[in-house]
Amino acid sequence: MSDQTTGANKMWGGRFTTAPADVMRKINPSIGFDYRLYRQDIAASKTHAAMLARQGVIAGADNERIQAGLDQIRGEIDRGELKFSIDLEDIHMNVEARLKEIIGEPAGRLHTARSRNDQAVTDVRLWMRDAIDALDGTIRGLQQALIERASEHAGTIMPGFTHMQVAQPVTFGHHLMAYVEMFGRDRERLAGARQRTNVSPLGAAALAGTAFPIDRQFTAAELGFARPTENSMDSVGARDHICELLFCCSMLAVHLSRLNEEITLWCSDGFRFIALSDAFTTGSSIMPQKRNPDAAELVRGKTGRVVGSLTAMLVMVKGLPMTFMKDMQEDKEPMFDALETVGLCVAATTGMIRDLTVRPEGMRAFLDRGFPTATDLADWLVREAGIPFRDAHHITARIVALAEAKGCTLQALDLDAMRSVDPRIGETVFEVLAPEHSVRSRRSYGGTAPDTVREAIERARQRWLADKPIQS
Ligand code: ARG
Repeated sequence: MSDQTTGANKMWGGRFTTAPADVMRKINPSIGFDYRLYRQDIAASKTHAAMLARQGVIAGADNERIQAGLDQIRGEIDRGELKFSIDLEDIHMNVEARLKEIIGEPAGRLHTARSRNDQAVTDVRLWMRDAIDALDGTIRGLQQALIERASEHAGTIMPGFTHMQVAQPVTFGHHLMAYVEMFGRDRERLAGARQRTNVSPLGAAALAGTAFPIDRQFTAAELGFARPTENSMDSVGARDHICELLFCCSMLAVHLSRLNEEITLWCSDGFRFIALSDAFTTGSSIMPQKRNPDAAELVRGKTGRVVGSLTAMLVMVKGLPMTFMKDMQEDKEPMFDALETVGLCVAATTGMIRDLTVRPEGMRAFLDRGFPTATDLADWLVREAGIPFRDAHHITARIVALAEAKGCTLQALDLDAMRSVDPRIGETVFEVLAPEHSVRSRRSYGGTAPDTVREAIERARQRWLADKPIQS
């Protein structure tokens, strides 16, 4: 680790005469978080060494010792046996130093024709690829839960809101399916981010490429990348793939936050649309009647962290000239935290959706307070009495005022009362005043009629739950 006489770092300390300051030993290392990349780091090193041997840059025998040594190190780290050193800064140098202990001199040949700059970005891209695939599967699980509950409730009537005011009746299934679309776009965005991430920077070396006869196509293919990156400076100097992933996570978190905001409203006493299960609520230490939707609130709250990670990345990259700057070491913690956080939030939301009890009577009571079929009445006046819509709107508003004054629903008004506002109103108006009729009539593509919702559910199953990759 350090030179015996000066305390300088052995990896580069040739021209250093003194040891780093204590505070430098605190600010400089990344091993405290980039140890999480050890599997990717070892996989990329094995591929790099194999390529060097194929190209005749290192001897076959050295490559074999390097491969065996790296396998051993992966096992040691898997089992928690390797003690990392902050004086070795990062995962790359910790692995290399351990390799030296195990196989001796050939370990020093591994770093030929590469730099920690291309090594670090290669590891991160490999990690991101797996993280994206795992997150995609988690979101798919949430869509599946939403689709299942939506098909149970394709015909369950609830108030649809605009401005948080009762607008028109919709079905609970239709409402849940709106989120299936949002989470679907989140998956499409992730698929696009994955495409741009899945390219190999290995072999860009420090920034300029290398004079050794390396084969970047080979290492890219071996590591499952689509191709090598085009420009060595861009390879080590770009971080937009991480910013993009964190935007995908932020948008997902915002969608989750909106759904969880609705969950907290729906289970509140003013709404009583749903009840959450014991598994996703907590009691109060003082108020015995309470059942708090903590999981939903936490998902909503954690959105701030995820958006914060995106902000940290964008601001970190903003002023950086080409190419690698140590600032960029700050790319990993926000990325790890954001991915871990959204994964947890998706899983918690999935659990709540699966478990929640729907209370149709609560939805109906709220709906009836809001004259939700006023638009249907105005449409009836247009269709059946030939009245221009603008006038029909006015007549309907006066009928709503009447119902409000009587404290009843529109369908509970008697015909004479309505005719006192406009004598052209006839008996058949009652057919359109029931919310059931209102939702049944909205059969336009993407509308809320129960049969239309069932068709949408079928298409969503094909689109999001089939075993085929999501297109970006
Ligand atoms: N630990 C560094 C990182 O996480 C690796 C690259 C360091 N390169 C360098 N020249 N200091 O980005």
